[in-house]
Amino acid sequence: MSTSIARHAIKEVTIIGGGLMGSGIAQVTATAGMKVNLVDMNEDILKKSGSSIQKSLERVAKKKFSDNPEGGKQFIDDITGRISFSCNPEEAVQSSGLVIEAIVENLEVKQKLFSALDKVAPKETLFTSNTSSIPIKDIAVSTQRLDRFGGLHFFNPVPMMKLLEVIRIPETTDETFNSLLEYGAAVGKTTVNCKDTPGFIVNRLLVPYMAEAVRMLERGDASAKDIDIAMKLGAGYPMGPFELADYVGLDTMKFILEGWSKNYPDVEIFKQSEMMNKLVAEGRLGRKSGKGFYDY
Ligand code: NAI
Repeated sequence: MSTSIARHAIKEVTIIGGGLMGSGIAQVTATAGMKVNLVDMNEDILKKSGSSIQKSLERVAKKKFSDNPEGGKQFIDDITGRISFSCNPEEAVQSSGLVIEAIVENLEVKQKLFSALDKVAPKETLFTSNTSSIPIKDIAVSTQRLDRFGGLHFFNPVPMMKLLEVIRIPETTDETFNSLLEYGAAVGKTTVNCKDTPGFIVNRLLVPYMAEAVRMLERGDASAKDIDIAMKLGAGYPMGPFELADYVGLDTMKFILEGWSKNYPDVEIFKQSEMMNKLVAEGRLGRKSGKGFYDY
């Protein structure tokens, strides 16, 4: 190990938000041997985060230790033993080298959190957000540590998905960025580097692609089913754009397009879709509500 890696190695991580993403990030971070403080608003939510991590690890252990249940139990206990739960973010960050924020997708709420943490966290602690659609810089300006701020964008489900987008704002130092890349490698992800642009790499391409598929449907060019079949069999995609939109959630898609079309009114491919807005208003949110473009 080079001295620079040894100097940056992150031993303890505070993850704020114990929902879908935060629980997964906590799991992979603890699996990599780091200590984790998982923070959320109240004990009940944290209990749910704990049990979702436990269940997910049981699935991993079942495969990994299929002929050694004792080893599997030990594997789970070792990992969960490294995770502490807290409702007090200011206290949790005190000995952490890295903060990963995965709370509600709302700029003001994220700014408020980081502004408070900036005042109490150790000077060298790196701050990151897992935001999908808010510019990292807009969140970072709530702190005095823009040089130690970046984005770590994970994918759902975190333990399964191999990619981690690592985002830098103009002020992010090479030292900070390299530490974030090292953290990504430590948690077993393939990292890609990206500037602080809307949707980073994956969502920048996927969201307009799904929105254009909806526009095709609105124009009556083809049916949702035929567009999905075409992209699966003609482009080799594992899911068609409507299946993917239902998986992501039409409310999430609508929310992302709303933000982008407001910030970039001249970009045609960021325009909102009337059909998608109507489906959301009718409660057709995709798989999670049992119906979206398709019924489940
Ligand atoms: P979620 O709703 O499952 O979890 C958010 C959690 O944050 C909740 O448990 C909530 O109680 C907690 N929370 C809210 N405000 C808080 C605060 N001030 N302090 C502490 N905890 C707070 O949301 P999810 O899906 O995990 O998303 C979290 C972030 O990750 C968002 O920024 C989202 O854009 C991003 N993201 C989501 C992906 C997805 O597929 N769901 C993929 C990649 C990024």
